[in-house]
Amino acid sequence: MSERILLIGSGGREHALAKAMASSTSCDKLWVTPGNPGIAREAEIVLLNIADHDAIATFCHKNNVTLVVVGPEQPLAEGLADSLREEGIDVFGPSQQAAQLETSKGFSKDFMQRHGVPTAPYKRFGASEHDAARSYAAGHDLPVVIKYDGLAAGKGVVVALTREEALEAVDAMYAGAFGDDGVVIEGFLAGQEASVFAVCYGSDFVTLAPAQDHKRVGDGDTGKNTGGMGAYAPAPIVTPAVLDKIHTQVIRPVLDGMSSEGMPFIGCLFCGLMIDNNGDPSVVEFNVRFGDPETQAVLSVLSADTAALFASAARGALDTSCIASTAIGYACNVVLASAGYPDAFDRGLAITGIDDAEADPFVTVYHAGTKESNGELLSNGGRVLGVTAVGETLEQAVRRSYEAVGKIAFANKYFRTDIAKRAL
Ligand code: AMP
Ligand code: GLY
Repeated sequence: MSERILLIGSGGREHALAKAMASSTSCDKLWVTPGNPGIAREAEIVLLNIADHDAIATFCHKNNVTLVVVGPEQPLAEGLADSLREEGIDVFGPSQQAAQLETSKGFSKDFMQRHGVPTAPYKRFGASEHDAARSYAAGHDLPVVIKYDGLAAGKGVVVALTREEALEAVDAMYAGAFGDDGVVIEGFLAGQEASVFAVCYGSDFVTLAPAQDHKRVGDGDTGKNTGGMGAYAPAPIVTPAVLDKIHTQVIRPVLDGMSSEGMPFIGCLFCGLMIDNNGDPSVVEFNVRFGDPETQAVLSVLSADTAALFASAARGALDTSCIASTAIGYACNVVLASAGYPDAFDRGLAITGIDDAEADPFVTVYHAGTKESNGELLSNGGRVLGVTAVGETLEQAVRRSYEAVGKIAFANKYFRTDIAKRAL
């Protein structure tokens, strides 16, 4: 089938999704809203109000859109997939109910407990249980992990090494740092993190190349948590045996559980995992969409008709024959940020050198936070670009990424220098 696709979103993840779908044999036409200047190279940009579900549906009907792919979590949390399905439009993305796996940490932890999915022990505290949360945190072994129960743009988690830090985090969350939901307090998981994406319909799924993200802002995993400062795939920590455990102990029970509880999962299930020394996985978190920046690496090593794959999942007949290989070689992604991120940072910084960086045919520079003004490319976010290279080996991919990073300039350019180092 010739797909006419509308992709929702504007970051590096959406640039990678746009590139993969635009180059798919089955993609006839691709629109992206709101997109960004990098995405404009791959697709037609259309400006729609994402919060206005009727406006999105009208656009789809008018333009014979056959598939909507939702990039970020916010529209899913607001029920965009439900609204479009009611209008008879196929969507790759979960319902509002199924999106609770990401939008409520408490829901997700209770769900895992019901279905025997390995995760850290926890206790959930509601909006009016500040005092109880405080005393529980005060008595917990260290480190202790404090999580805001609702969406917090990746910033609602504190791994507290001291009692003071733990109480400060609880107090900040109850003071409304992110909203008026409660908190989840959980035990600390030791090990190495991995991100595994499953393309799902109901109980059917296929996993893509496992990736490793670098969440902390500083080299050596120091400093604040961010949305992700770089990633690589496939991550050697996830051996075939480990991936098998992830399939049987995590993804299978989650998808069966979601179906049996009346909220079958359609879309990308993002499993954020901690892999311990024995290769046993525990779930750190679920997201209900692709990860950013991991997707830039994962899709770079995927050989598939991505558009057909997502369309088949959206229509309830997941077709894994759309995938030729999930991992041709290796990919490394280095995020170029505006110094100060994840706290205050400057916008509007002039960017140069992307063409030079992309003169290497193994390099793609994904736009994460950019805008165009009077023909000039400017930064427009904390994470500005995702410099991604592929190679036959991880070493080669890493070297090419950092060579490309050196060719790109903007004031206050900041990046981690140790992406993928752990795997080398
Ligand atoms: P989350 O938003 O739940 O993925 O948490 C953000 C980051 O905090 C994770 O990527 C981990 O690095 C860390 N983290 C969260 N929960 C735990 C845990 N239980 N044990 C250790 N680290 C954690
Ligand atoms: N890189 C982690 C995320 O997308 O949530």
